[in-house]
Amino acid sequence: MKELTPEQIHENWIKLINLIKDTFPEDYPNNRREKLLNMYQYFEDRMCVAPASGKEHYHNAHVGGYVEHVLHVIDCAVKLKKLWEDGGATINFSDEELIFAAMHHDLGKVGDMKNDYYIPQESEWHRKNQGSIFTHNGELQYMTVTDRAIWLLQHFEIPMSEWEYVGLRLTDGLYEDANKSYYVTYNPDFSLKSNIAYILHQADSMATHIEHDKWKSAEQQEEIKVQENVENIKKAVTMEETSEQLSQKSKDLFEELFGDNS
Ligand SMILES: [Fe+2]
Repeated sequence: MKELTPEQIHENWIKLINLIKDTFPEDYPNNRREKLLNMYQYFEDRMCVAPASGKEHYHNAHVGGYVEHVLHVIDCAVKLKKLWEDGGATINFSDEELIFAAMHHDLGKVGDMKNDYYIPQESEWHRKNQGSIFTHNGELQYMTVTDRAIWLLQHFEIPMSEWEYVGLRLTDGLYEDANKSYYVTYNPDFSLKSNIAYILHQADSMATHIEHDKWKSAEQQEEIKVQENVENIKKAVTMEETSEQLSQKSKDLFEELFGDNS
């Protein structure tokens, strides 16, 4: 399982807070920046350690995975918007609207005002056989992650524009059944009137797959290392080497496995 150091978790948190300060102007109607900072301050202790998913083979199912995922989605969304724009697409929303929607598309994963959305999986069987690192907290009232995101934003009286709502609401694309009537329509009047939702869905999908691939390749590297250690032990015990080589190898192996690496 991927692990972030406390310094990396702190660094990601600072990045997120600075992004809020840099993106949202103080003079927005109803002082949105201050309300956002209030909400982030309220959730700081829980949000900065929250995972982005519960299963290791999904994406970012590690402590600090939520904030890291949000930063990745924002980064991908800004880059993808430029690609769409360079390709000639109509961009009828601001960067602020794009970043607001990307920043809050998974906000529901922080939980409610009292409880975390994800809690550690206690069952060893589920951890080992299903890669379940975190599980849903049964204390919470059921809501989709998106509904909870919107509920939390209104709870902190954070206003949003129509494009921010459409983008945030539809980031999951057709993975969410409730989004079908927005994406699939035969009535031209009902078709999406902004590309913000398509760009956010692509950004979320891209960030999620990259996070998964990084986890997978780290797991594979770990497996190769374990295999090499096993092979070394096998060689050592078959006494193929002279006793002098053997004693040096055992010493190296001991150092590799138990040395303090400092
Ligand atoms: Fe996401």
